[in-house]
Amino acid sequence: MDFTHLLTHLVADDSLHARWLNTLSMMENTGARKISAAEPKTTVDLLMLKHAAEEARHAYYLKKQIQKVSKTDCPTYEPAYLLAPTDSHAYLNRLDVQVCRYLKTALGLSGADLKYAAYLLVTYSIEVRADELYPVYQNVLTESGSKVNVRSIIVEEEGHLAEMLRQMETFFGDWQTHAERAVAIETGLYMAWLGSLMASEKIDAGKEN
Ligand SMILES: [Fe+2]
Ligand SMILES: [Fe+2]
Repeated sequence: MDFTHLLTHLVADDSLHARWLNTLSMMENTGARKISAAEPKTTVDLLMLKHAAEEARHAYYLKKQIQKVSKTDCPTYEPAYLLAPTDSHAYLNRLDVQVCRYLKTALGLSGADLKYAAYLLVTYSIEVRADELYPVYQNVLTESGSKVNVRSIIVEEEGHLAEMLRQMETFFGDWQTHAERAVAIETGLYMAWLGSLMASEKIDAGKEN
């Protein structure tokens, strides 16, 4: 499966490209809302507020980019304006559920500790994905001469990954085992999501056009 080829196909078609941007925007917004929901009411710190604010900005920024794609509009996150709507909507929740299940079984966590540990692992695995996905997308945008650009998101996601690593070290100590497990869970969901994307638009990323 060639992700660059899939993105090239999406970017070449205005309608698909607009829905791709809207799908990313929806997923960033889901991330922002999840971080806000995980915030402790009174002890939330600057870093967590910054992270929630930046993910919300990514959702807004990606939605604004749709205006640069001609003759298209995706006013809402309703299924008609997304790619693989069911799986795209469910992706973060599924990740959260599976990571929580792992944390309960492996570490016996519950309550506030479970909530915070899940925030760390879910967010970390998403940052690893974002640090891979956005640069590939930016290369495709640059190659195709698109007016859309995601450079400011790349810079912030790199910062998030470094911040999550520091926070995981503080909370878990032996964070690597748990981080690897979260990344493995996320990778399974991501591969399934890519499959849904291609199936929903009958895209065969293995073939040249
Ligand atoms: Fe983001
Ligand atoms: Fe992020």
